[in-house]
Amino acid sequence: MTIRFDKLIKNTGIALDIIEKELLGAATHHGKRVAVLVDAMGRFFGLDDGTRKNLSICALFHDNALSEYILSERAGLAPHDPSMKLHCELGQKNLEALLPGNISGYVLYHHEWANGQGPFGKREGECPLAAELICLADATDVRHRYNCIDPDKLPQLIDRIKNDRGIHFTNRAVEAACTVINEELLHSLSDDCIREALDRAIPPEEVDIQNTMIIKFALLVSRIIDYKSAFTRRHTAQIANKAWYMGNWYKWNDDRKAQFFLAASLHDLGKLAIPTEILEKPGALTPGEFLIIKDHVRITWELLKDIEGMETICDWASNHHEKLDGSGYHAGKGADKLDFNSRLLACIDIYQAVSEERPYHPGRTHRDTMGILFDMAGRGFIDGGIVNDLNMALQPFNGGDVPLPKILDLFNTPVGY
Ligand SMILES: [Fe+2]
Ligand SMILES: [Fe+2]
Ligand SMILES: [Fe+2]
Ligand SMILES: [Fe+2]
Repeated sequence: MTIRFDKLIKNTGIALDIIEKELLGAATHHGKRVAVLVDAMGRFFGLDDGTRKNLSICALFHDNALSEYILSERAGLAPHDPSMKLHCELGQKNLEALLPGNISGYVLYHHEWANGQGPFGKREGECPLAAELICLADATDVRHRYNCIDPDKLPQLIDRIKNDRGIHFTNRAVEAACTVINEELLHSLSDDCIREALDRAIPPEEVDIQNTMIIKFALLVSRIIDYKSAFTRRHTAQIANKAWYMGNWYKWNDDRKAQFFLAASLHDLGKLAIPTEILEKPGALTPGEFLIIKDHVRITWELLKDIEGMETICDWASNHHEKLDGSGYHAGKGADKLDFNSRLLACIDIYQAVSEERPYHPGRTHRDTMGILFDMAGRGFIDGGIVNDLNMALQPFNGGDVPLPKILDLFNTPVGY
C-alpha cells in the first residue's frame, strides 16, 4: 500500500513551525514560507525538479534539530553553544539520513554570513548555493515576516535585503531574492495561501509504506517528538520499537508492521504543539493545563487525518488514549470503535509511560508495570487479552528498552551524545 508522503512531510512541518514559534518567536508557517521562497529562488537559478524538491524539504525542516539541541543543552547533555552550530550539525545529519541525493551542507551552513561571521566562519563562495538560499529566506522571514508585509512596502524590503549584500547574504542569493520577490510571491506567502504554494514546491508523491524513506522519516519524527520534552527522550522511539517487536510476535506481514511502526512513531505528534512549560511542569497540573495536554491526541488526529493512505494509521495513532468503556480521549470511543491495533498501541503507550523513568516516578520492572496494566484491564479500560500477550512478549526485557529492530539498524543515525 502507498501513502501520500509529501502530505506527511508537510503536515509534520506544521508541527515543527509551532515549535519554532515557541522557541524562537518566529511567525506562524515560518518553515513553509522558507520552503516556498527557496523554491522560487531555485527556479531562478534553473535548478532541476529533484534538486529543488530536496532544497524545499531541507528548507521546511531547516531547524529540525532545534528542540533536540535546546533540550539537550538544558539537560546538560550538550555543551552550551551560543553560535547555534550544534543544531546545524544535527539537523544536517538528520536530513542526510532521510533524503536521497547529495544535500551536503544545505542545512549545515544555513546560518553562515557572507562576511565570514557565521558559526563555521565560511565566507561568500564557500557554501553550497542551497545553504545561501535557505539562509536568506530564513533570516529575512524571521526579520520581516513575509506574511505581514504590506505590498506597498515591497521596495523598502528589497532595499533592506540589498543592504545586506556581501555582509549577511551572498551576492547571488540577493540577486535571486530581489528578482523573485514580487507582489504575487508575497501573496502566495500569506497565511491563507501558503499551503497551496507549498504544494507547488513539494509536489504530490505516493510512496510505498515499506519504502525505507518512510521508516527513516518515522525515525526522524519520533526523535523530534521525543526531544520536545527532556522527560520523555526515549518515549516515542521505545513505543515504535515495541510496536515492531509485537508485530513480529504476532507474525504480521511487513506491510502491517510498517504501518503500525509509523502509527507508533507519530502517536504523540500533537505534543509538538503543547507548550514545553506545561509538558515539563514540575508540580500538579491545573484542570486547564490537563485539558491542554489532553488536546495532543486531537492535534495528532488533525495533522494526520487528511493524508491519503494513512486513514487507518491515523486512527491507530490518535486512539492511543481511548478506553474500552468510552472514558478516554479525544473522541470518547468505546470498545465497538477500537480495533485490535488501536487497543494494542494504547497498551504499549501505557506500558512505556509506566515503565520509563519520569521526574515523578522511577523506572519500573516488568512485573510492577504489568501489575498496573492488569489492574486497568480488570476495570474494563484496556484489552485483557492484549495485556496477557504483552506480559509474555515483553517479559525478557524486564521493563527496559527493546532494541531497534534489526531491519532498522541501517537507517538509524544516533546523535553524538
Ligand atoms: Fe536555524
Ligand atoms: Fe528558521
Ligand atoms: Fe499521548
Ligand atoms: Fe505516548
